[in-house]
Amino acid sequence: MNKRPVWIKHAAQLATIAGGTAPRIKEGMSDLGIIEDGSVWIEDGEIRAVGTTAELEERYGSRAGDAEIVDASGRLVTPGLIDPHTHVVYGGSREKEFEMRLEGATYMEIMNAGGGIHATARMTREATEEELFEQSWKRLDSFLSHGVTTVEGKSGYGMDLETELKQLRVMRELNERHPVDLVPTFMGAHAVPLDWKGREDEFVDLLIREMLPKVAEEKLAQFNDVFCEVGVYTPDQTRKILEAGKAHGLIPKIHADEIEPYGGAELAVEVGAISAEHLLKASDEGIRKMAEAGTIACLLPATALFLREEAARGRDMVDAGVPVAISTDCNPGSSPTTSMTLVMNLACISMRMTPAEALVAATLNAACAIGMERRVGSIEEGKQADLVMWDVRNYQELQYLFGANHVDKVWKKGETVVS
Ligand code: NIG
Ligand code: FE
Repeated sequence: MNKRPVWIKHAAQLATIAGGTAPRIKEGMSDLGIIEDGSVWIEDGEIRAVGTTAELEERYGSRAGDAEIVDASGRLVTPGLIDPHTHVVYGGSREKEFEMRLEGATYMEIMNAGGGIHATARMTREATEEELFEQSWKRLDSFLSHGVTTVEGKSGYGMDLETELKQLRVMRELNERHPVDLVPTFMGAHAVPLDWKGREDEFVDLLIREMLPKVAEEKLAQFNDVFCEVGVYTPDQTRKILEAGKAHGLIPKIHADEIEPYGGAELAVEVGAISAEHLLKASDEGIRKMAEAGTIACLLPATALFLREEAARGRDMVDAGVPVAISTDCNPGSSPTTSMTLVMNLACISMRMTPAEALVAATLNAACAIGMERRVGSIEEGKQADLVMWDVRNYQELQYLFGANHVDKVWKKGETVVS
């Protein structure tokens, strides 16, 4: 831990996103709590004070000599970005499938022919824990270099007990050793394993009988996710898996309505999921129900771009009152990126969200989607000191100068981790 306090002074804009821990909706998603000539005092890994530089001078001026002073003049300072949906721990790579898709094959065709998720599952089963750890460590480094300080990660590239546990244990170790906080999700129902084709219900029973209890017993996951999609898991099978997870204390999430409309958004509301993900083909009724229930929509515009699909209706969802979060979906098949800045840019460009909404979706609302809102997601007294200083003057510029990495400095629990 940093022994000396850190004093950030004179930020051109400090986007605090302060004011409570509930997910933001509608106009709330535009309120960034901007402080001009902003200042933050960090001590013992925590944010101790936030205000204008003049205000903090009054309070801390006498201790200036003890602190490491950071001049943020002409810079934007935000909370560390949060990526609430990734498949960051996996073996191998799938660039050949990218080429196949560009030559005309579809994502589902490749998967149904034994490639896609199945190909990564084979490579993940073959990889040792050390190899998975090494590969994933590098990806977390890349997240950090893009200003991401908290990441959710899913299992699901095993779909057998041994490999699922291996992935989750690697995540636990990464969380302990890497500066990024990694929040684990069990996703044993990521695809139907090839040797269980035609016996889907039996696999669901196995997952419920053997995998869920073991994952819960070892406390390896907080959330439970299912790929609810035509040709993968039906809404009935999804419901069964998520209800069984709830009995073990695992909070539901759903990969919903990604490729075809399938009632996934409605099901997320019915089972009390914290979030529904993707939602490219979500129905109007599903969106309305999510708004009513406060179910978070976790939208993944980089996946839509990479699959050459129309993005989710982010604008409509915000207008309807759905709390929207955004994420990379970092995975080897449909979105091999670690850039949350690109995802914010795409939230604006492909989903017509405003620059402010995109920033809230990548910070506070993303924290809410993984139950981390009391610790991270805004710059407020008492929260973990996870912050980013960007080489731009304001939040609009961050979203406008798209495709580049504007990170200047990153603090994680008060430590400088990128400079
Ligand atoms: O969120 N849609 C299902 N799962 C992942 C893709 C995983 C893969 O292709 O390896 C997703 O897009
Ligand atoms: Fe995903």
